[in-house]
Amino acid sequence: MHIILLGAPGVGKGTVAKMIAEKFDIPHLSTGDILRDNVNKKTYVGNQAKEYMDNGKLVPDDIMIQMVKGRVLEEDCKTGFILDGFPRTIRQAEALKLIFDELNIVVDAILNLKASQEIIIERLSGRRTCKNCGAIYHIKNIPPKVEDKCDKCADRLYQRDDDKKDIVKERLMVYKTQTKKLISYYEKQDSFYEINANKKADEMFAEVCKDLGKAGKSG
Ligand code: AP5
Repeated sequence: MHIILLGAPGVGKGTVAKMIAEKFDIPHLSTGDILRDNVNKKTYVGNQAKEYMDNGKLVPDDIMIQMVKGRVLEEDCKTGFILDGFPRTIRQAEALKLIFDELNIVVDAILNLKASQEIIIERLSGRRTCKNCGAIYHIKNIPPKVEDKCDKCADRLYQRDDDKKDIVKERLMVYKTQTKKLISYYEKQDSFYEINANKKADEMFAEVCKDLGKAGKSG
């Protein structure tokens, strides 16, 4: 199964992607996670991406396209994957189409998560992420059992640097001016579904599963 997840920063893409990946046993390809891993390891890509990410800007298309192309060719992607955070520009979407055509991949579902601006800001300001396994929490909505400790691996939770107020503002602006255009690029396709992400995570996931059922993928 091949799924593309769209939506503003903080809308819940990572949260729902992890649930889908687990249910359907496919890898979760989060370009944000891959970039953060590269930044931590100080790789060539990480060093190039860091300044853009720290300022809430998009990393240049050429870097992103190469990175995603390399990742989808890996063995674990043979039976499918869920793409979270890519594409983010029309150029990335066009490049993705070429990659999919080349690999004979048909997209089963394009899910566009939508929530109000107030909810998005509240979610980003309370987000905590596990340094070790990447699990996502929220101090109020989805709290860990023990404060600042991951339920899954007991490692320390942290607040992402780009969740600071000014950077969040910039990321939301970048979404509005560059990434939102993808909705009109994809919305006419039969496999496009709009998801109401104002709901609780399990309700949002139930809606996603219903739409995946319509797309012929009930898992
Ligand atoms: P990336 O890491 O992809 O960040 P993003 O798109 O801004 O999305 P987020 O990870 O912030 O949010 P999310 O929608 O996954 O929400 P989450 O599930 O965590 O990208 C970071 C940076 O990398 C970019 O700024 C850019 O520089 C670069 N980059 C990445 N991809 C790129 C590309 N293709 N091109 C160029 N540059 C790229 O949820 C948020 C919070 O809400 C959590 O606390 C969660 O617990 C809570 N929550 C989630 N759902 C619910 C719910 N239903 N109810 C209550 N709480 C919820």
